[in-house]
Amino acid sequence: MSINSTNIESISRLENILIIGSGGRENSLAWAIQKNELVKKVYLVPGNAGSERINKCERIKIDIDNKIELVEKLNFFKIDLIVIGPEIPLANGLADFLRKKNFKVFGPGKDGAKLEYSKSWAKEFMREANIPTANFWKVNSLEKAKDIINSSSSPLVVKADGLASGKGVYIPDSKEECFKAAESIFNGKFGNSGDIVVLEEKIEGPEVSVFALCDGEKFILLPSAQDHKRLNEKDKGPNTGGMGAYSPAPLLTEDYLDTIISEIIEPTINELNRKNIDYKGVIYFGLMVTKSGPKVIEYNCRFGDPECQTIMPLMDQNFLLLLEKCAMGKLIGNEKIDTFDMVSGCVIATSKGYPYEYKTGFPINIGNVDSTDFQIFDSGTRLGKNGDLITDGGRVLSIVCQDKDFDKVFEKAYKNLKEINFEGIYYRNDIGHQVRKNFSKGH
Ligand code: AMP
Ligand code: GLY
Repeated sequence: MSINSTNIESISRLENILIIGSGGRENSLAWAIQKNELVKKVYLVPGNAGSERINKCERIKIDIDNKIELVEKLNFFKIDLIVIGPEIPLANGLADFLRKKNFKVFGPGKDGAKLEYSKSWAKEFMREANIPTANFWKVNSLEKAKDIINSSSSPLVVKADGLASGKGVYIPDSKEECFKAAESIFNGKFGNSGDIVVLEEKIEGPEVSVFALCDGEKFILLPSAQDHKRLNEKDKGPNTGGMGAYSPAPLLTEDYLDTIISEIIEPTINELNRKNIDYKGVIYFGLMVTKSGPKVIEYNCRFGDPECQTIMPLMDQNFLLLLEKCAMGKLIGNEKIDTFDMVSGCVIATSKGYPYEYKTGFPINIGNVDSTDFQIFDSGTRLGKNGDLITDGGRVLSIVCQDKDFDKVFEKAYKNLKEINFEGIYYRNDIGHQVRKNFSKGH
């Protein structure tokens, strides 16, 4: 379980690292980063209650929108590298600002973040670079949307153009539902994010997430992962931020991955370069494996959640050095990430009601868990008055395990989950069903 370190050495001082974000994703990044012996402190802004359980980690309060305070604090804490977790600060140009102030940053500038914050821009980008994706129409009025929906022989996928916390995508079953979806977006359900609507041909196949760490020109791939977006077992119910994941995804054989690299990943990076976008961060390729080959469903400018929690325990201490190389434009591109024969799985425990309305503030009890190759990354927690752990979000805990095979991984994850409780706890019991040989469909 290590990255082949023959050509990975730190380029600069890496004592104090700062991670921006508050979810399970950021806690797992902190967990992987602190493994590096060069690191003295990992600061999380704002982090959550789980952040301080992680070795070397501390939460600090900084208003990242107050640029003067931000620069003062980064200097005060002598921050050597900043990792920006979520899409909103990236879309707001935080990485550009920090780079101008001479900080080392892992995360794209506003121009690169557009891959995520404008779906129509990303679709046009793909069309220009001949990158396989579903056919699409960009519309700016309900009338135009209706014309296209009416003239299409089958229902279309309807998407708000801008950021919508993962909720701006509708997959209607009828034309009637398509109209309603377009109408609610144009009526302001997602604010300005819905000024433009993207209509897409519906494509089919399993989905897989591929992450490329990119230094502007070169890239290396992390192990692939499969997310479980639907709330309920058998992949039913509403879309969520992600209910669990496993990594690597055996669906992506070496040959198939070669196709993805040559048809999707390299053309994406070439097109970024052609547009003079110096992308220093992770590109998340949300792919669908269709009968006619891999297609891009979406790009994100950040790590996936819960894919990140699933992949980070497969990284050894050199992970940090890869982030540093990306931030400095110094990737060689042949750094090998060798996860040996370990695989990883993650199950998300949510509050009852998520992804709709839910209550928080319930105490979390963690009993007698088997902690070997097992991590709990808090997704939405806070500390109560007595220092006890309390639920504080829709997604509450990310339960992550590693082992030699997926059966063992999920056996342990679910055994440990039985030891964890809070009022209204909900999780899917079938995470990893695609790769669990012992999984009984009638479980
Ligand atoms: P997105 O936020 O664009 O990733 O969309 C959320 C989810 O909607 C994806 O993970 C897919 O399951 C589904 N989806 C998005 N676009 C399409 C499409 N063109 N065809 C079929 N399903 C889609
Ligand atoms: N797991 C899906 C996402 O992070 O967007």
